[in-house]
Amino acid sequence: MNVLFVSSEVAPFAKTGGLGDVASALPRALSKKGHDVRVVMPMYSRVEVAGRVFEPVLRDVSLSLGGARIVFSVFTAKLPGTDVPVYFVRCPGLYGRAGVYTSDHDEHLRFAVLSWAALVLCQRIGFRPDVAHANDWQTSLLPLLLKTMFAWDGLFSRTASLLTIHNIGHQGGFDARVLGDTGLGGAAHHFHQDQLREGRLNYLLTGILYANAVTTVSPTYAREIMTPEHGVGLDGFLRERRDIVFGVLNGIDEDEWSPETDAHIAFRYSADDLDGKEKNKKALLDAAGLPYLARAPVFGIVSRLAWQKGFDLCFGVLPALLSHHAAQLVVVGTGEEKYERLFLDLARRYPKQVAYKRGFSEPLAHQVEAGADMFLMPSRYEPCGLNQMYSLRYGTPPVVHKTGGLADTVTPFHAGRGSGNGFVFEHFDEGGLTYAIRRALTVWGSGAGADRERWRVLQHNGMRARFGWDERVTAYEQLYRMIAPGR
Ligand code: ADP
Ligand code: GLC
Repeated sequence: MNVLFVSSEVAPFAKTGGLGDVASALPRALSKKGHDVRVVMPMYSRVEVAGRVFEPVLRDVSLSLGGARIVFSVFTAKLPGTDVPVYFVRCPGLYGRAGVYTSDHDEHLRFAVLSWAALVLCQRIGFRPDVAHANDWQTSLLPLLLKTMFAWDGLFSRTASLLTIHNIGHQGGFDARVLGDTGLGGAAHHFHQDQLREGRLNYLLTGILYANAVTTVSPTYAREIMTPEHGVGLDGFLRERRDIVFGVLNGIDEDEWSPETDAHIAFRYSADDLDGKEKNKKALLDAAGLPYLARAPVFGIVSRLAWQKGFDLCFGVLPALLSHHAAQLVVVGTGEEKYERLFLDLARRYPKQVAYKRGFSEPLAHQVEAGADMFLMPSRYEPCGLNQMYSLRYGTPPVVHKTGGLADTVTPFHAGRGSGNGFVFEHFDEGGLTYAIRRALTVWGSGAGADRERWRVLQHNGMRARFGWDERVTAYEQLYRMIAPGR
């Protein structure tokens, strides 16, 4: 099939979280199955780094959106290691900024232009998509654009649209006065009328109303977002369209994330030979400036430091843990100041136990996955979550809240049966997190002898499971076929 895949981030060109990983790995997996996938994303400043070569595709295309005249060009490069073309929409006035996302006055316009540009690109290069696959609010105008402004063009007569919701917490809600800037002013009657009357316009809702199918990134999250508790105001609309709402668990890129081949870690290892893991632990502690304490477990965190990720529980729980146990903690992440301050304070109060690297780097993320003994992910909500799957693959059992994709991938370890791959708490409160950490410490035990053997069983359970896209991609193929039966 011909697939137009549009995303606001695609690794390695631009990534602020899991969307970037998925928007790289899924097109790669689809292409391996023989589909002609074209990926479209903005040319942010950070994309144009030295050493990357881009071929020009379109020059100075002009768009009139409401009162604004936008001129953009398109360049292309291959998704690394594949033949998949990525098209970069170059419009320095909109995308030449430090961040991928901004709170600037024209955020709505930056991403309306992305959807427009993707469809204009198809016209200019004669690419006839069977499926236009949109991701999150940034590209949620695509389905409606296809049904209105581009409906005249026979090129799209067979194009169905699919919207994947990676996070319903971000909806692209704007003042209705931006309607003209979306280029859909003439199609105002297609937007949700009550909202327009109330002066609001919601990109994600527009996508939910017009996509031929809506997916989200795990089966549990698909159920959750249809409830008032987790739907962030959109649950009613999703329930109305429940027949076309599906949960498809994300995969991970098993080439990129494999302890057997990982180029970012000093010592490779596998489920059969875990010696390298202990060496990575020493290397990680060394680099973090922490002493290697024989048999003390090291917890790892790699995360955006956002409300979603549940670190509010850590203010009370971690000091108690660190005061009463020899455990150590290595944290990598940036985000809201209050969480950054939490980890800075912990590193100051427990200098031999806690290290906090404020920032993010891909090699460091891999080194924490490989070097930590356990991985902490107490998310309030988690549409899918990739880090717990990376952790499982690296023999680093995750400690998680039972929500969304965490509930679908992590099961509590049962020592007697030797089943389960991590530690799970149900109630999102300090008692819950404390319970799961205590469980993990009990199973860890002395970190030696029979306790060590038990821990190996737990590690093996995670390392043996398959989380690759090769298994998951068939679910997308089926959905594509369902909505685009022309093929
Ligand atoms: P989310 O997308 O909600 O952040 P996921 O677990 O799906 O959560 O994906 C996290 C991905 O983003 C991982 O690849 C992780 O290494 C990466 N990551 C974590 N923190 C950052 C950050 N501050 N900047 C960029 N990438 C990050
Ligand atoms: C979002 C979610 C995360 C998910 C990722 C990729 O960022 O927060 O849970 O794994 O998208 O789908």
